[in-house]
Amino acid sequence: MSDAASTKQNVTKRKIAVLVSGRGSNLKALAAACAQPDFPAEIALVFSNRPNAQALSIAADYGIPTQTLDHKEFEDRTEFDAAVSEIIDQSGAQLVCLAGYMRLFSEEFVNRWRDRMINIHPALLPAFKGLHVHERAIEAGVKITGATVHFVRLGTDEGPIIIQGAVPVLPDDTPETLEARILTVEHKIYPEAVRMIAQGHTRIVNERVEIVDEAPSVADCFIVPHVAIRD
Ligand code: GRF
Repeated sequence: MSDAASTKQNVTKRKIAVLVSGRGSNLKALAAACAQPDFPAEIALVFSNRPNAQALSIAADYGIPTQTLDHKEFEDRTEFDAAVSEIIDQSGAQLVCLAGYMRLFSEEFVNRWRDRMINIHPALLPAFKGLHVHERAIEAGVKITGATVHFVRLGTDEGPIIIQGAVPVLPDDTPETLEARILTVEHKIYPEAVRMIAQGHTRIVNERVEIVDEAPSVADCFIVPHVAIRD
């Protein structure tokens, strides 16, 4: 990442872009974290492929620049993704955070942002990749599930895992109650992943993320569901 810093802050703020398509609760969690003076990242751009995404109004609330492009106006996926890459480049962002971005990428885009693009998924990967995750977790009868932040690779919900948070699946859970429980974890681990990357605490070795120069307890505290996640 570049050393571009915001002079108003007392820490170096790394610029990130957040790509959204819908509700934007993870965007809100990231924006709230970035608003803290000592958080080492700032959102330079919120991009959406859906001009009416609710997430765009969250960005506006935080005074974050937004851009939208309708993919239907492009010949193909590669051309659309090239335009998105250009918009991200213009924002100065060097880390791309997918937060409910509901569009598959071209291979060129994934390669272009390799090791500089992360995603959050509402399950303990590699379990339950893809869609309808909460229904499938309940149906499978798992007792623990959670959320994962990972670097993005070409396969859906694949890539080196940065951080995971676990929650119990309770006997009377519905997809909605389980989703709500997992979201509270998502909103903690996504800013935490961005913080670790921005401060240079992550290193990819043989397609696994090593956390460097940081106490292991940062990750360990999420392992058991009944252990409170630190505030
Ligand atoms: C989250 O559950 C995230 O894990 C998944 O899409 C959902 C987006 O929710 N990738 P929101 O738009 O951040 O509220």
